[in-house]
Amino acid sequence: MSEMINLKAAAAAFFKPGTPIDRQQLFAGRQLQIRKVLNAIIQPGQHVIIFGDRGVGKTSLAKVVSDMMRRAESFKTLNSGTINCDPTDNFDKLWRKIFRELSFAMESQDAGFEKSKVTSAVPIASILPEHPLQPDDIRYFLSSKIDKSIVLIIDELDRLFDQISRSQLADTIKNLSDHAVDATLVLVGVGDSVDELVAEHQSIQRSLVPVPMQRMSPTELIKILETGEEGSGITIPEECKTWITHLSRGLPHYTHLLGLYSSFSAIEEGRKEITINDVLAATTSIVQTSQIIASAYSKAVLSPRPGNIYAKVLSACALAKTDEFGYFTAKAVCEQLSKILFRECQISDFSRHLSEFCQPKRGPILKSTGAKWYRRYRFIDAMLQPYVIIHDYSIGMLTNQFLEESKEKSRDAVNGQ
Ligand SMILES: Nc1ncnc2c1ncn2[C@@H]1O[C@H](COP(=O)(O)OP(=O)(O)OP(=O)(O)O)[C@@H](O)[C@H]1O
Ligand SMILES: [Mg+2]
Repeated sequence: MSEMINLKAAAAAFFKPGTPIDRQQLFAGRQLQIRKVLNAIIQPGQHVIIFGDRGVGKTSLAKVVSDMMRRAESFKTLNSGTINCDPTDNFDKLWRKIFRELSFAMESQDAGFEKSKVTSAVPIASILPEHPLQPDDIRYFLSSKIDKSIVLIIDELDRLFDQISRSQLADTIKNLSDHAVDATLVLVGVGDSVDELVAEHQSIQRSLVPVPMQRMSPTELIKILETGEEGSGITIPEECKTWITHLSRGLPHYTHLLGLYSSFSAIEEGRKEITINDVLAATTSIVQTSQIIASAYSKAVLSPRPGNIYAKVLSACALAKTDEFGYFTAKAVCEQLSKILFRECQISDFSRHLSEFCQPKRGPILKSTGAKWYRRYRFIDAMLQPYVIIHDYSIGMLTNQFLEESKEKSRDAVNGQ
């Protein structure tokens, strides 16, 4: 029993679906994005915004960069690596949270007999003015109280709902750039674009380097599995690696989840090598443990009518070929649905289902864009897309053979055939 617990703990130390990566050794791929962020940090007046789908790896990138900067002696970072925005924050509250973690060296005279000078670290938060902090206060304290280049990572920007505070953040970036203050702000948030996250983005265009986080490539996801294999001592055969990356749809969260639960399944059967059946068992475990996303799924497909096709249309949406921004067309859904239902489908067979998925009564789980003749759709929560496939795989609605065919098709499409 204790060997089983130790093996499980070893797997859990490397497959961590719920925790961002904060060390380079466990971080896979993303070299281009790392270079972009580092280049911006070392250039005076440049700031960074990292944005992309939920669960794509934004915080991990920011934390790994923060770790790299901390190791470079001339840079200072927050001890916690990042500061998270929350819905109750405004500009003043956010910066007081940041200054709570920053201190400056203050010299004072020792009260003792020798009257020697002593240096103590004083939190900047303790000397802030009482009035609500303004962008120019931030410039003043960062430039006068910090003796090194500083990198400040502000995460979960999409949860800072207050528009005035977002404009003030944009003004702060402009102010820091105009005065060449030796500080870099790295903003991180869920969003399709910079405009969605930063109001008044026009005024800071030249000083804000956008770093879009696309889904990870299969090669990058396989690297995650290889790191887990090396660290935990559990072997993952090539075939299982391919399945796990295929089910993950570019989201590393699912690669970690599938790696973890497949390892658990093998360990529980006394093996140190994962099989396809362990991957299948992992999909069931994921469905059983992902309560929030599972209830979003149930709400989307619920219908009292026997024989309804909501679940199948949703499955076709999750498998549909997307553009680089994650949007798919009804035609792409039609192709997948025809395969799922084993008959030639028309768009009119499921256009009502698509439009209901965009309405509150079924979530909404999709959002649409574009004129009627070229309407495109995407999952509002990117995490739901792999979940749908994992769910349908776990109940046998999608089989290995089916997924293999859709993989061939998407590879052909990429190769322009
Ligand atoms: N480059 C990477 N290498 C290995 N694992 C990664 C990588 N990027 C992300 N992960 C893993 O993927 C999961 C999601 O990562 P992370 O929390 O950084 O994503 P996020 O985009 O910040 O998510 P959210 O939008 O929910 O804040 C975590 O388990 C993390 O460990
Ligand atoms: Mg995050």
